Amino acid sequence: MMQEITLRRPDDWHLHLRDGAMLKGVLPETTRHFARAIVMPNLVPPVVTAKDASAYRDRILAALPAGAVFEPLMTLYLTEGTDPADVAAAAAGGLVKAVKLYPAGATTNSHSGVRNLDAVMPVLEKMAGIGLPLLTHGEVTTPEVDIFDREAVFIDTVLDPLRRRLPELRVVMEHITTAEGAAYAAEGGPNLAATITTHHLIINRNHILVGGIKPHYYCLPVAKREHHRQALRKAATSGAPCYFLGTDSAPHVDALKEHACGCAGCFTATNTMPLLAHVFEEEGALDRLEGFASLHGPAFYGLPPNEARIRLVKHEAPQVFPAKILTEAGPVTVFDPGFPVHWHVES
Ligand code: NCD
Ligand code: ZN
Repeated sequence: MMQEITLRRPDDWHLHLRDGAMLKGVLPETTRHFARAIVMPNLVPPVVTAKDASAYRDRILAALPAGAVFEPLMTLYLTEGTDPADVAAAAAGGLVKAVKLYPAGATTNSHSGVRNLDAVMPVLEKMAGIGLPLLTHGEVTTPEVDIFDREAVFIDTVLDPLRRRLPELRVVMEHITTAEGAAYAAEGGPNLAATITTHHLIINRNHILVGGIKPHYYCLPVAKREHHRQALRKAATSGAPCYFLGTDSAPHVDALKEHACGCAGCFTATNTMPLLAHVFEEEGALDRLEGFASLHGPAFYGLPPNEARIRLVKHEAPQVFPAKILTEAGPVTVFDPGFPVHWHVES
């Protein structure tokens, strides 16, 4: 049994860093292990323009812990008012690496999102022309569609028609949660990829609902049935380059998670790499962890993989992770996988 593994330093291709006190509190949890992250733009107000992204990037850099080597990769929040020329200029200057599509009402801070895709076609056409990826929160929000079916319906009624209309558009299906999502990504050719979170490899919907409601396991897209979790594990550990890590680590203070209308999001920045080592070892695929966490993402985004390395060691004793991160905004509960984890990032 392999007890140690060295990887190129991983990147997180889907991360929520927030702003202000929360940003300051959670940023070290990511920079400890990750070299870069695609930073989600769903702030209040959202990061819509190149100017917004530049200012947010400056705030992230100013909040970096001393000595941290970390590059935030910025994204824009697509609205029906987004200017194609502003997007193109932000991409040409290297500031912005992708644009995020939130269907209006789909998730945290998505009310400024897109209601009608026709309204954003000029932006999407520009992006297709310059090769700038569209990152999709792949859920429909129509009230008739059951929340557990939102992803599959999005693929059939929104994503597939869009990709037929604009085949050159590069798309990342963010945080896929279903067998249908994994299968669609696999068949999409070089312009399509999918991120997979750590927590969707570990929990299914029973973890949220059986034996009392567990607000810290509630995220969007919501975890599905066990067979979907199994399909995601198979996809992530397959070695296929269309799948890569996007933790979707999404901090909310405990007071808002443990609430009558609890916020969606699992906070996994702290322990993602040990948890992934555990999962990949269970699947007999430790040798594929580097592809998933450190190689496939840069390849899709046209960036070089990181030169630095991290070393993960499996210890006899279960490793202890903090149960909470204490930020100046309030405590944030770290994702609890519900089983002992023996892996630890040593350096
Ligand atoms: C995210 C957040 O809190 O910003 N929440 C989540 O459950 N994943 C938004 C998102 O990515 O859907
Ligand atoms: Zn997210």
